[in-house]
Order: sequence, then structure tokens, then C-alpha cells
Amino acid sequence: MRIIVEDNYDKLSEKAAQIVAQKIRENPRIVLGLATGVTTIGLYKELGRMYKEEGLDFANVTTFNLDEYVGLAPDHPQSYNFAMNENLFYKINIPETNIFIPYGPVRNIEKHCQWYEKIIQEKGGIDFQIIGIGGNGHIGFNEPGSSFDSVTRVVDLDEKTIKDNARFFDSINDVPKQAMTMGISTIMNAKECFLLASGEHKAEIIEKALKGPVTTDVPASILQNHPNLIVILDKTAAKQN
Ligand code: GLP
Repeated sequence: MRIIVEDNYDKLSEKAAQIVAQKIRENPRIVLGLATGVTTIGLYKELGRMYKEEGLDFANVTTFNLDEYVGLAPDHPQSYNFAMNENLFYKINIPETNIFIPYGPVRNIEKHCQWYEKIIQEKGGIDFQIIGIGGNGHIGFNEPGSSFDSVTRVVDLDEKTIKDNARFFDSINDVPKQAMTMGISTIMNAKECFLLASGEHKAEIIEKALKGPVTTDVPASILQNHPNLIVILDKTAAKQN
């Protein structure tokens, strides 16, 4: 495990973007795994700038997002499809056909999840997986208790996740109760994992995830067993303030 600590969120975002850009330059056909949430917004903004100002080329990059809320259409402002379009995809030259993200309103959810898992394999697996961490240690929407063998599937959201994410919705009742998410085994099969965390509110869970026992109670703790893990934190998330 390699841990990088940056002074603040802006520096973390810049450094994270440099790392991702380097991966793309080394392998222009890279398959990236992407995460939503507020933590990755600065990274995506910087990648957009790098495309515009430095010609960072996404023409042959393929992306798979970790998760999506069940029922939210891509034009719903709180859907992860919407967030990815606004924060990254509309800002770079990635072809639409190279973008994969679970489709919220899909009728046959199980079949869709199986298809998602299969298409990841068909594209050769994920080379570099960007990951955020939930307040309860979730990765993607793999809530505490998720099996380490899990693959892409539909899950019920944890009470804490619903509460944490309520700030983005008009009311807590509007937060979807279910999501589709890559499984923990899907994530662990990525050749390299890149975990980002920022802010004091993430410090405790980061410590548990990186230094505590590997347990399904803290889904992110499994990343300790990943052979190629890079973690990037700001000082507050690293408890260095
Ligand atoms: C969300 C998403 C994750 C995300 C994580 C952290 O609920 N399901 O994919 O990485 O929680 O979110 P944030 O960066 O907003 O703290």
C-alpha cells in the first residue's frame, strides 16, 4: 500500500489527477473504474482542465462507474449518471460508447447487473479503479456486511448512507432505498485501486479501513489485501492536523 498525504483538498485533487493522467498516457486504451461523490469532483475538474489545456486524450479510454441509485434516470440531478456527465464526461473527449454506468430505471435489474459484470470482463477487466469511502466504510455501495465475494448486484442502502446522502435531496424520503453497485470482488479484481478521502469526517473510518482488522463490518478494509493500492488523503483525513 502506498499512502500519499496532501496539504488540502485542492492539492489532493491535483495530485490525484496527475496520477490518473500518467496512467492514461502510459496506456491510452486504459479501462478506468470511476466513483462519484463529492471527493472526486476536484479530480474530475482537473482532468477536464488537462484535456482542454494539455490535450490529455480520452478517445480510447473506457470507463465503468461503481454504482447508481435504482430508479433514478440519467437526467435526474441526483443520479450518478447526471453527476458524471456534468463533472467529467461532457468536459472530455471520451466517446459515449466507451462509457459504462448502471442504468437506474432499468426494468430487469438482476439481468442488468449480470450484463454489467460480463461487459467488464469482455473489456479485459478494470485497470485502475478510483474509489471513495462512505462514512460507514462502504466502497461503491457495498455496505457493511457485504460479502467479499460479491459481484455487481442490487443492494439495500444502509440507514447511515441514506442519512449521509439526504443532504443532496429535497428530503430524506426522496433518497432511493436501493442501488446497483459493483461488488467487492469486482473492485478487488481491478489491477490497481486508488482510494481517495478528504476531510476530518473521514479520518476515523480511514484509520479503521487502513489499519484495523480486515472485516466485512468495514468493507473498505479489504483493500488492505489488494496487491496494488494507492491511497491519497488530505491532512485532515490522515489525522495529521
Ligand atoms: C457514496 C457513493 C460512493 C462514494 C462514497 C463517498 O455514497 N456510493 O461511490 O465514493 O459514498 O462519497 P463522498 O465522496 O461524497 O464522501
